[in-house]
Amino acid sequence: MKNLAINGGPRAIEGVLPSFRDTTGRTFGKAESDYLREVMESGRLSFLTGPKTAAFERRWAETYGVKHAVAAANGTAALHTAVVYLNPEPGDEIILSPITDAGTVIPILSQLAIPVFADVDPLTQNMAPASIERNITPRTRAIIVTHVYGHPADMDAILSLARKHKLFIIEDCAQAHLATYKGRLCGTIGDIGCFSFQQSKHMTTGDGGMVISNDDGRFGRGLRHCSDKGWPRERGGRDHLFLAPNYHMTELQAAVGLGQLEQLDSFVTNRVCAADRLTELLADIEVQPVLPLNDTKGVYFFYSFRLDPGKLTAPVADIIKALVAEGIDGFIGYPGPIPLYRYPVVRDHKTFGNSGLPFTLVGARRDDFNSALCPEAEKACRETVCMWWNDRFEERHLQQMAEAIGKVVSAYRA
Ligand SMILES: Cc1ncc(COP(=O)(O)O)c(C=O)c1O
Repeated sequence: MKNLAINGGPRAIEGVLPSFRDTTGRTFGKAESDYLREVMESGRLSFLTGPKTAAFERRWAETYGVKHAVAAANGTAALHTAVVYLNPEPGDEIILSPITDAGTVIPILSQLAIPVFADVDPLTQNMAPASIERNITPRTRAIIVTHVYGHPADMDAILSLARKHKLFIIEDCAQAHLATYKGRLCGTIGDIGCFSFQQSKHMTTGDGGMVISNDDGRFGRGLRHCSDKGWPRERGGRDHLFLAPNYHMTELQAAVGLGQLEQLDSFVTNRVCAADRLTELLADIEVQPVLPLNDTKGVYFFYSFRLDPGKLTAPVADIIKALVAEGIDGFIGYPGPIPLYRYPVVRDHKTFGNSGLPFTLVGARRDDFNSALCPEAEKACRETVCMWWNDRFEERHLQQMAEAIGKVVSAYRA
């Protein structure tokens, strides 16, 4: 134990690892600068007068081979746009994972729909189809499928449930840029796909998002109108057809997005290569990496691994402190040490004033958001180490990370 950095020993990782937080781990090239300059020199910072947002949407649609791509202010906005498009009745239910960002549940609550949490598969930490099925009721309208850590969920099983129960599938690809399931790009497998370009994502515009779909308005609403105040601008004049937020992306974000998209393939390839190499280096260490399913391409938003508390002399939270002291950029569990439903917004219905809406709607489903709700998600949050991942990791970084993990895990082995 003496040689652990947390006890004053030498750190396994020299210096700091490349990080999404700054230029150590974010690559902005000449294209981003040129496009940004064009926007500034044109004086056209809004999509209403400038061409960059439309160009970014076009390129994203081409990359994904879809008919519609609508840029949004951020990933939560993209998901909210998708839920506005679905137009649920208040009290309708939408199934989601407890292992995801708050940005997945906020749109559901904002539209007065009820979030219903399906438990996860212990290996992938994506929603388990059997748990989804158990949670389907006559009021279920949709499933939001988060491909967590960038690893595709079990889409064949989920699609077959959707077909059987006539459910709409929203893919939350905020962590899954260019991930594929059986050769198909995530975001194009369900009915609608949502992306985030927040600072930590595979590519970034600071904040930003995108919604894609091949759907032509089956719920009587145009996708673009769902993030534009319900406004059918293409008809000319001013009209507001239904309640919808304003989630425009700016031309500044789109300028950066266009440049980043040119590099996205190499960002993703580098992340995956680095992750595969770390998995090799960890082969003899008692940790269980969270890996993509067979026949899928997972794109490693985080590199996550499970620890078995029964085989350790200290709680996982303490092990993580020791790892951080060695220089690892990581934390316990996703979205944290507890699943999403145990945060006050969901658990205590901290929504609209003191109304408790939508949970207090007459006839609405009322789950107890306690630790008994999704046992596998509870365990996963307690036992998983998530490491921020980066396309700039080199062999020396990966060697040092493996050394740090090996050193700490063996020091705490029971
Ligand atoms: C899985 C998932 N869903 C939704 C979001 C929300 O995206 P944003 O932070 O861009 O609003 C994020 C981003 O953190 C995410 O990781």
